[in-house]
Amino acid sequence: MSEKSQKKPSYKGSAISPPNIAFSKYWGKTNHELVLPANDSISMTLGSIYSHTTVEFSPQYDQDLVEIGDQNHSPQPVAGSKKTRVTTHLARFRKLASIELKAKVVSQNNFPLGAGIASSASAFSALTAACIAALGLQVSKKRQSILTRLAGSGSATRSVFGGFVRWQKGRESNQSYAYQLFPADYWALADVVLVISNQEKKFSSLQGHSASAQSSLTNARVRQTKLDNQGLEQALAQKNFAALGKIIEKQMYLLHAVAMTSNPAILYWQPGTVWVLQQVQRLRQQGVQVYATLDAGPNPHLIVEQVNAHRVIEYFKNSQYVQDYFCCPVGRGTRFTSKHLF
Ligand code: PMV
Repeated sequence: MSEKSQKKPSYKGSAISPPNIAFSKYWGKTNHELVLPANDSISMTLGSIYSHTTVEFSPQYDQDLVEIGDQNHSPQPVAGSKKTRVTTHLARFRKLASIELKAKVVSQNNFPLGAGIASSASAFSALTAACIAALGLQVSKKRQSILTRLAGSGSATRSVFGGFVRWQKGRESNQSYAYQLFPADYWALADVVLVISNQEKKFSSLQGHSASAQSSLTNARVRQTKLDNQGLEQALAQKNFAALGKIIEKQMYLLHAVAMTSNPAILYWQPGTVWVLQQVQRLRQQGVQVYATLDAGPNPHLIVEQVNAHRVIEYFKNSQYVQDYFCCPVGRGTRFTSKHLF
């Protein structure tokens, strides 16, 4: 046998995936290891921003290597817990494909990390899809969504699909997956993200999910979210923006009420956050249909019909609190690409 034919093969694949913004929130789990959420959640997938990730399993690596870059930085090696979250997921795929090869992962985001956009959702959905492509696994979208959920950032499971998406909580792992409610071109909404702070938050969402179990408001939030999911689906079906926006904003306040009354108490808001929330109420009094939501952080996401995005951006962009902003339309979900990063 020639040396060439004895060489072990390499497996390389790439994918592109967007973040998403939750209209109803995932905050608290019934099973931490399996990432089973306490309630269903509904989101909008964001367009124009994404993570592009390439994974190569190859005998040329004697350990896993992980590099991450963003709009302002080319990919740099990461270590510590950031790396461990990725390598744990790689190990899951090695087991699935019955291989032992180490891998190199390079991930490039076209937006700044730490800008209040859920980069873990785009990152882990892109990583999962790149592993699927690299190893040539034949999986359904449902299975892809389950594998993405297991990466640890539960909200990533919703990014697999474009448009408006629901993640059903499920009682066991193979019942907890996302599916599309309406495609990306169904309704021209936009998410105007205002960057108040790009500092790394003191409490990760991982800590927040655990701490939420200590809040006496958690059960009430979960109960209310069941009703709000019905209301959101109805508002989406009827394209009733006011009804949709009211629930989106209430869901944000519910999440943050739980966070503030958790143990430890978590306050993600900053003065600029409160100022924006007040201005959003003022804008509505002036007849502008805009509603605010927040992830686990201080940076407001303003949900508008796309025709009103310009007016909202003009209102906020020069404020003393707003360092930067992004306007994201409704986007497509995770997709495979033949464009490799290395
Ligand atoms: O996806 P995780 O595990 O990082 O949790 C994020 C949860 C929120 O973004 C705060 C809410 C949500 O439903 O996306």
